[in-house]
Amino acid sequence: MLEKIANGVWKLVLGEPEELTPVKYRKFDINKAGLESLPQRDVAPEAFQALEWKKTKRGIAVTLPMETTEDIFGFGLQLKSLNMAGRKRRIRVNSDPPADTGESHAPAPFYVSSAGYGLFADTFRYTDFFMGTNSVKGRSAGKTEVNQIHQEFSESALYALKRAGEKRTIIIDIPGVNGITLYIFSGILKEAVQRYNLFSGGGPLVPMWGLGVWYRTYGGSDQDKVIQTAEAFRTEHIPVDVFGLEPGWHSHSYSCTYEWSYLFPEPEKMIEALKTQHYKINLWEHAFVYPAAPIYQDLLPYSGDYEVWNGLVPDFADEKAVEIFSDYHEKNLVDKGIMGFKLDECDNSDYNPSNWSFPEVSTFPSGMDGEQMHNGIGLLYQNLLGNIYRKKNLRTLSQVRASGALAAPLPFVLYSDLYDHRDFIRGIVTSGFSGMLWSPEVRSCENGGDFLRRVQTVIFSAQALLNCWRIPNPPWKQVDVEKNLRNEYMKEEVYYTQEIRRLLQLRMSLLPYLYSAFMEYHLYGTPPVRAVVLDYPEDSKAAVIDDQYLFGDSMMVCPLTLEDGTGRTVWLPKGTWHNFFSGEIFEGGREYQISAKLEEIPVFVKNGALIPLAEPVEYVSPDTVFRIRVKSFGKGEQCFALYEDDFESLDAEKGAYNQVLISRDRDGGISWERRGTHPIRYELEI
Ligand code: GAL
Repeated sequence: MLEKIANGVWKLVLGEPEELTPVKYRKFDINKAGLESLPQRDVAPEAFQALEWKKTKRGIAVTLPMETTEDIFGFGLQLKSLNMAGRKRRIRVNSDPPADTGESHAPAPFYVSSAGYGLFADTFRYTDFFMGTNSVKGRSAGKTEVNQIHQEFSESALYALKRAGEKRTIIIDIPGVNGITLYIFSGILKEAVQRYNLFSGGGPLVPMWGLGVWYRTYGGSDQDKVIQTAEAFRTEHIPVDVFGLEPGWHSHSYSCTYEWSYLFPEPEKMIEALKTQHYKINLWEHAFVYPAAPIYQDLLPYSGDYEVWNGLVPDFADEKAVEIFSDYHEKNLVDKGIMGFKLDECDNSDYNPSNWSFPEVSTFPSGMDGEQMHNGIGLLYQNLLGNIYRKKNLRTLSQVRASGALAAPLPFVLYSDLYDHRDFIRGIVTSGFSGMLWSPEVRSCENGGDFLRRVQTVIFSAQALLNCWRIPNPPWKQVDVEKNLRNEYMKEEVYYTQEIRRLLQLRMSLLPYLYSAFMEYHLYGTPPVRAVVLDYPEDSKAAVIDDQYLFGDSMMVCPLTLEDGTGRTVWLPKGTWHNFFSGEIFEGGREYQISAKLEEIPVFVKNGALIPLAEPVEYVSPDTVFRIRVKSFGKGEQCFALYEDDFESLDAEKGAYNQVLISRDRDGGISWERRGTHPIRYELEI
């Protein structure tokens, strides 16, 4: 029986579901106010009239109809493909997926269909979704065509989907269970995504500083070197907000002690020095607890029966383990001024020749087994560390390498060691379907051109992160790792320093615009960075565009990779578009060949948009007031809502924010109005 549980959201219980599932561990309430703001939907999506399910030897199988023309998106972070129609997806956390199987750092048992619904299967099991890849026996009965030699003997023709005109089926194969709870969200693509995100709790409230620039420093740095690097950014006017320390800060890091190493004899002094320069510190760690860690003995009874890298695997599904791990972090790190963490290595791996991960047969005191824990540990870990800040009424934005179901409210951004730039761009596009944020981080680079191309992508993503953990000098001084380690600078060092400053300043000028997109994510579940098809579901090409995306409501970003050279094709949906930098006008509904010098990234703005641009600051502090100019693209009445608050506490959850409404009237006149009496953080120059 379909039970309506909120506007446009239904619950369907089949058989006897398991007890330990993502919904059980969700720490956020359903955002009912957000759901109420969406169109009222009283009738459940049609596909569910025809749903069938049965118990199988393996677990259970659910089947749903699928139209031949249906497009399917989602399943969490997917680096290898966008449209999942005609594909099989395996929901299994794996940091080294062997191929385009659905496995990734953050797969989710959630998809949206162009037929007007989204579906979430509430399980941590390694579920297989067969998205129209099957024909039941009898479908082909009576066919009589014979081979047409010349046309049919190519690989693509032989293996093509041979089902033109047929209806397809979706099969959801959930092993090891006697039942499942499904949640169904109505609406065409974007609306269904919004409902899923709001059902998860809505997007996170992110601190404004988290949207600034992140620099992860060399893993071998000692505390003096950290301070020196941080000072150099200020002297050279390179904007940086977050300073990340890598494994070297632990006295033992694989597995972790969570204690400062000999390289940091006076961590309080360093924290103070960085704070004085307005940096936020983020610490690398992973969940596996080394025997010498102060929490090891306490965690022994609350951990799994296998070790990882000689460390315990704490049972984050057990309240006691959560308490021990959180208390230690709170007292020893958060209370000392650490503003976030990078939760590494929680994403399994099939190919690493070490005891990286625990086996699926593991058991945990909470009753979770290894399979469930693999799909759950990233989420549980994010909840645990995120909660330390929540309790203090503080926001964080942190990093994580594994995630999954119902992740929208978790203030963590995904990243990866895989490094194909094209795949990283696709990750920006796909992560937005399932409540996830993704950083196409910049790490090593082939050459200066590769560096610029990657930085261009990263500044137009959810997190502008330079991960320099392998190199003692910033990459704009030397991109070659070996030369960087020898402290040899490139001869074009001055040029690249200028370019990086310019690009990072561009990011800083976009902060208020991006912050507002994040507030809309929080309030209405709209992903701040998202696939073109979400805004243009009717567009004939949008369903296959995985190399350009929307950044906020109005900007279409079309990055280039080193391989692209200085040109690429861009698809512009119907309507008029403006080049963000030059103002040049393009009529949409067609493809363009765009050239872009190494210093340029093509960004187009929807006709009519108003974009607030801030005078770039080098960091965000509690008294930063952004000076804002408004760039107006096109004509006609228009309004843009800037959200303004303390940018740091969770008070905005209770409505403690202003809206600064920027409007353009019919004659092109621009004006603004502040609604609310909370502290002023924007000065508009109009
Ligand atoms: C990797 C991580 C890198 C870096 C490294 C340090 O697994 O993805 O960004 O932190 O660990 O050992």
